Amino acid sequence: MIAIGCDHAGVEMKKAIIEALSVQGFDFMDLGTDGEPCDYPDVAEKLCHEVLAGNCEKGILICGTGIGMSIAANKFKGIRAALCADSFSTRFTRMHNNSNVMCMGARTLGCGLACELAEIFLTTEFEGGRHQRRIDLITAIEEKQ
Ligand code: RB5
Repeated sequence: MIAIGCDHAGVEMKKAIIEALSVQGFDFMDLGTDGEPCDYPDVAEKLCHEVLAGNCEKGILICGTGIGMSIAANKFKGIRAALCADSFSTRFTRMHNNSNVMCMGARTLGCGLACELAEIFLTTEFEGGRHQRRIDLITAIEEKQ
């Protein structure tokens, strides 16, 4: 199960991603908004809880720039949220950072690119090895807060 959420800026992009990737067999837990104006930290919080509870393996968050969502999501221990706008970074944040949430900007990216990036994010595996050691160091920083 993949969690997906957006603020009012990202409704159209969220629908496009659900439509495109459902065809490929992905199941989505849609955490809103469906169009009502809302505050992006509230959506990020709901989505991060679903990922951290193990109800969803990964999450996708969309706001105007993707930046607010990524700042909010990265406040949660255990969430590694990546702002994605190109295929190289999207692939490598999965391979090297084991990112569990991707954030995208609905006012900076087209829906076609967003669907392609979401597919890359959801299908690229973490490489482990030396990258796990670096993630453990991030976790250690979280534990010190
Ligand atoms: C909402 O207008 C906008 O501020 C939000 O979507 C996002 O871009 C924040 O980072």
